[in-house]
Amino acid sequence: MRERYQPQIKSYEIHPISIKQIQKGHPWVTMDKFSEKFHPKERFIIASNRKKPFALLIHDPTHKDVRARVWATSGDFNRQTKNFKNDLGNRIQTAMKKRLDAGILKERNNFYLIFGEADHIPGVFVQWLNGEVLIQFYMNFWNFYKDYIVQQLIKVINDKVDPDFYIENCWLQSRSLTKDPALSMDPNCSFRSVEITEFGVKYKVLLGKHYDHGIYTDMSSVRSRLKEELTNSKSVLNLYSYTGAFSLYALSLGVEDVVSVDLSSKYIDWLEENIKLNKDFNPDHHKSMVTDTDSALKQLKKEKKKFDFIISDPPSSSTDKNKRTNSLNDYKMNLPLIDNLLTPAGSTLVFLNTHKVSMKKFEERILQIIEEKKLKLKVAKKFYLSEDCPTKKGFHEGNYLKGILLKKDD
Ligand SMILES: C[S@@+](CC[C@H](N)C(=O)[O-])C[C@H]1O[C@@H](n2cnc3c(N)ncnc32)[C@H](O)[C@@H]1O
Repeated sequence: MRERYQPQIKSYEIHPISIKQIQKGHPWVTMDKFSEKFHPKERFIIASNRKKPFALLIHDPTHKDVRARVWATSGDFNRQTKNFKNDLGNRIQTAMKKRLDAGILKERNNFYLIFGEADHIPGVFVQWLNGEVLIQFYMNFWNFYKDYIVQQLIKVINDKVDPDFYIENCWLQSRSLTKDPALSMDPNCSFRSVEITEFGVKYKVLLGKHYDHGIYTDMSSVRSRLKEELTNSKSVLNLYSYTGAFSLYALSLGVEDVVSVDLSSKYIDWLEENIKLNKDFNPDHHKSMVTDTDSALKQLKKEKKKFDFIISDPPSSSTDKNKRTNSLNDYKMNLPLIDNLLTPAGSTLVFLNTHKVSMKKFEERILQIIEEKKLKLKVAKKFYLSEDCPTKKGFHEGNYLKGILLKKDD
């Protein structure tokens, strides 16, 4: 009998710091003098610790920072590479069923079916957008398994959600190298407008047109936890509003004075389109301001406006160091202005969208500003990613969203 070909996966020593981090749950191997030796042709790599196999990695030679991600830390690694598709299929099913069986669809039809590293499918993020599926790869390795992933997704969706869901409803976006929009898997379609419903509010989502599609689904669980706060408010100011998810949610909860601020007229137009989609909203209850946050705060102060609730969600800066510093430092200038616009029992929710600053540091900085500027604000609650967007212990990059609710302390 002919002997069966048994490929052996190549082993490489990895950096002692990578070993320590993987032991703590961190699933990445970044570029260093060890990982730069990984041969670009290797798809799988066995990471060794003093010649002992330590972890099975999946490799992306094209990624400028994250060279490889952890697939397994125990078991027979050679066997696991042969059984890779099967294990991948199981992980996909587990992630999707966890959300669908929990009844998430009853509240909203935009949610994450797969949330990358936290679902043990590193670099793969999948959103359900009311009948369309957006698959985002943060690692080019997954292009080799694209068809299999799509096939697995369709299987679970046909079984649990919609028997008439087809490959033509899938969108693929590579987020590792370029800033291109998602591509439709329907060869006859270049973009598609979809209406999604989150907590009873309708939003327009545009697939295939821009890098981002019009709603931050990872913020959905934060929005739902603001229900009480918003219901108890008569006036809401939404800074860095984007397409208005927080503003529309406030309008749906009966707030009659909502102001949205964004630098981009394109996003404010989109926000206004979203308001029109919700026929029962009174457009007189909303005002848009196309300007930067700093100017808006100064103008509103001049007008002696006051708000019960102010949301500040500045843009992410995880890819740009300078922006990150600005975004945190901006609070030094903006928090006193925000405080000045609050009613005596008002509160503000300030966000920081970067893994580069921990919640502890963010809170310390906010408390420092409160002390320096003699503001009468106290920390009431903290917000993180949750529900369909879980975080993973030891993986700070995945824990990028931080929100602090500050209440007036008179
Ligand atoms: C992270 S998004 C906000 C997402 C939004 N809170 C949501 O949940 O849908 C950041 C937004 O800030 C806007 N932006 C960036 N710099 C700004 C500035 N200096 N003043 C006002 N808006 C700004 C961008 O146009 C973008 O729409």
